[in-house]
Amino acid sequence: MRRKLVVGNWKMHGSIAENKALLDGIVAGVREYLNADYVVCAPYPYLNQTQSLLQGTNVAWGAQNLCSTTDGALTGAVSPAMLVDYGCTHVIIGHSERRNLFHETDDTAAARFNAAINAGLIPIFCMGESAEERESDWTDYIVGRQLDSIIRRFGPHVLKNAVLAYEPLWAVGSDTPATPEQAEEVHTFIRKRVARCDPEIAAGVRILYGGSVTPANAPKLFAMPDIDGGLIGRASLKIDDFVAICRAAN
Ligand code: 13P
Repeated sequence: MRRKLVVGNWKMHGSIAENKALLDGIVAGVREYLNADYVVCAPYPYLNQTQSLLQGTNVAWGAQNLCSTTDGALTGAVSPAMLVDYGCTHVIIGHSERRNLFHETDDTAAARFNAAINAGLIPIFCMGESAEERESDWTDYIVGRQLDSIIRRFGPHVLKNAVLAYEPLWAVGSDTPATPEQAEEVHTFIRKRVARCDPEIAAGVRILYGGSVTPANAPKLFAMPDIDGGLIGRASLKIDDFVAICRAAN
């Protein structure tokens, strides 16, 4: 039985004052939800604050990206070991905003994925198709290609220490979530594709859904057999909404 996982992706939001109120509220809200796992992925400058407020609670924390190199003359980059220094357990890799706005590719995402694994961090590897790709019936091709970019390089066994996330681009930051059936169809495709390589790993890997998850739609999404939780954007910035989504997972 896979435990559900809810991950908040704050993206480029927050301030010291706002984070304090948000994290205190989340900690108080989910304290008794012991049947699922919760992670908050904060912007780099707030990892220290996040660590101080979350250590000793049942909420873990992580980052939204990392550099694939261990150290060096790389102005503006943040290494995997730096995230470990701040107690991060998770890191989001290959988010569509990174791929589309910051020119990340399957190759660079795979390198970051590998760097996370080597540092002992759990990568949350994002995949998803655009609206045009879905309309052209390319969803399986796009998601399959993104998944294969990891499995081909590193083998299926790396997924033992990773989380997968299906985030259709048309659902991210929109008000058009995938229906539970639409999401489940792609999650099943992903799990079957992993199962071709290793059925045991496929049965254990957690696949999150992301894209306009709200307290209203989370229960039905999380009830689908291959949806193991959510990667939450906007609703992770509101205490009541995030706690309600965590409750649905719990
Ligand atoms: P929204 O929940 O705001 O649609 O964002 C989803 C997302 O991109 C999480 O990584």
